[in-house]
Amino acid sequence: EETRSWKKLINIAVSGAAGMIANHLLFKLASGEVFGPDQPIALKLLGSERSIQALEGVAMELEDSLFPLLREVSIGIDPYEVFQDAEWALLIGAKPRGPGMERADLLDINGQIYAAQGRALNAVASRNVKVIVVGNPCNTNALICLKNAPNIPAKNFHALTRLDENRAKCQLALKAGVFYDKVSNVTIWGNHSTTQVPDFLNARIDGLPVKEVVKDQKWLEEEFTEKVQKRGGALIQKWGRSSAASTSVSIVDAIRSLVTPTPEGDWFSSGVYSDGNPYGIAEGIVFSMPCRSKGDGDYELVKDVIFDDYLQQRIAKV
Ligand code: LMR
Repeated sequence: EETRSWKKLINIAVSGAAGMIANHLLFKLASGEVFGPDQPIALKLLGSERSIQALEGVAMELEDSLFPLLREVSIGIDPYEVFQDAEWALLIGAKPRGPGMERADLLDINGQIYAAQGRALNAVASRNVKVIVVGNPCNTNALICLKNAPNIPAKNFHALTRLDENRAKCQLALKAGVFYDKVSNVTIWGNHSTTQVPDFLNARIDGLPVKEVVKDQKWLEEEFTEKVQKRGGALIQKWGRSSAASTSVSIVDAIRSLVTPTPEGDWFSSGVYSDGNPYGIAEGIVFSMPCRSKGDGDYELVKDVIFDDYLQQRIAKV
């Protein structure tokens, strides 16, 4: 006998669905660990002509897993079909960088993909769709996407910098010799690129300012900052391909941060549209900033952050 009460089905569109990141992500979405154990979902998977066979394989594996919350799986190569009534669009599909490349080198090819997907979202997605752009360069791709979707609030678009936040938390925890859950209030300012600024001025370890725990300013300014900025590249050197498992975990974190209330006093980083920001950052761009959410899918920018000369200068150079 069915006693559980289910929420209304939501449509989740995922591009690049035959790729490595999606292969980790889709099974997390289907298991309920992202949207909760009472939230049925439909997965709408976007691939390309080249990947359609693999996409059929992904759909078969999802079906064979008998996830109780996964009510529908559909696949396609036309974003105007796949994005129909999407309430979430997780845009992963893009050409990835290889060894020796910068993320910005991908702009020509990936910018076109994101312009087309923005137009498709504008035409057919839910008017309040939340969009998370993962394909690089993700800040610029998010901006291109939102500019092509004028009927969807610009506020609904995110560029994924949660991976950088997680990397920063890991390094701070290792340095301080604490478990990562003691590290909070970590902001990534700027782009998901080597100019990003991991903020150790506002970050806390066990509730204390990082600088009171890690008393090595040179390490914070140089080694820590560089390690976070270059982590993606270092992984490509090791793997010969870009990060996938940790990226999918950070997409889960980014979504959960929007659908659950942010813990008191803490915040999370996301690349968001900069209009009306309180920090003096240029308007009209997508820039990673500290956000809080009531858990309704929306967010507000955190006002009580502090700046010193170092942080201000670094942010100005992004
Ligand atoms: C990452 O940070 O791991 C991804 O953005 C992939 C890349 O190109 O670095």
